[in-house]
Amino acid sequence: MSAIEPAFVSAEDEWSPLRSVIVGRAEDSAFPSEPEHMMAATMPSEHLLRFKPLSPFPPAILARAQEELDNLADVMRKEGIRVYRPNKVNWLKMQGYTGAMPRDGLMTVGSALIEAPFSWRCRRHEITLAYSEILSELGSSNSGVTICRAPLITGEDTLYHGMLGKSRTNGNIPTSRWSINNSRPAFDAADFMRFGKVVIGQLSHVTNRRGVEYLRAVVPEGYTVEILETTDEHAMHIDATLLPLRKGLMVYQPERVSEHELRQHEVFHDWELLACPITPEPRQPPSPPMYMCSPWLMLNALSLDEKRVLVEANDKEFAAWLTTLGMEPIMVPFGHVNSIGGSFHCATVDLVRSGAKD
Ligand code: ARG
Repeated sequence: MSAIEPAFVSAEDEWSPLRSVIVGRAEDSAFPSEPEHMMAATMPSEHLLRFKPLSPFPPAILARAQEELDNLADVMRKEGIRVYRPNKVNWLKMQGYTGAMPRDGLMTVGSALIEAPFSWRCRRHEITLAYSEILSELGSSNSGVTICRAPLITGEDTLYHGMLGKSRTNGNIPTSRWSINNSRPAFDAADFMRFGKVVIGQLSHVTNRRGVEYLRAVVPEGYTVEILETTDEHAMHIDATLLPLRKGLMVYQPERVSEHELRQHEVFHDWELLACPITPEPRQPPSPPMYMCSPWLMLNALSLDEKRVLVEANDKEFAAWLTTLGMEPIMVPFGHVNSIGGSFHCATVDLVRSGAKD
């Protein structure tokens, strides 16, 4: 294996040796400007009143988050992994959210890199603003990479129409389980995970049925997309619900999905499926608050290969348990990135994982 992977895209699982990756950046991230019902459905209620739409995250948190992401990029480079970084964007000025969570907007399936048709309006330009250069480098690399950009939305976006009704006291109440309707395809890439030829995903507050159908139509030939029934009422991104550690071994969050449901999917028939026995405690100061996520973000670890897995430096009990499973946790500080919306899986996109077999 040469030290530097060529500009290339080839990955179809979450555990084969990572060779090439995008690592996000945090500068100038801003609290999302989505309607309140959307934010209320997807983030911890105690932080809802903390931010007005389009207010900056605390600068000290963003500065530390940026250091943590730069450090992650260094850790990866030292492992011989090729690291791409997005452009620096002033998200506050552009009325966007962040460049720190590339996993939400980009998904590698085989040699295709697929852009998510985001639900959140404030994220619609995220990939163009932050990742165009990476996409054009990969797309022009002459190595059979397919870049699949999201469909343009022309006219009014109707995705939030009819999602709020009046309660008896005349307050607003959601009209359905999810915050979006099915009037156009929508998904976030982080609602899906790759298990070889099968991609497993969930419906959520940002992923609708038409989004799933759209993804089925654009994945390369030979790949299928299956939907897992989860019970997470705040569902947004499946990567704090499932954690595949290596081929044949997956940890799941038992309050969000059952083993019975997982076993409905043929791809897991010979897998060991373990309910996570460690209940994460909300982090205490000096760790910054997790504004956007639940403590289950602990499960948002990232396998570098079938042994080594990146775990947040505070999650010591979890790391000790992973060790008993034969994994080798690499402890990396990431609490400030966690604060603005995700952990190692969210903050990266694997472009090449080698050794993936049929
Ligand atoms: N919604 C999940 C939770 O709060 C966090 C998922 C974060 N994932 C991401 N790709 N941004 O538990």
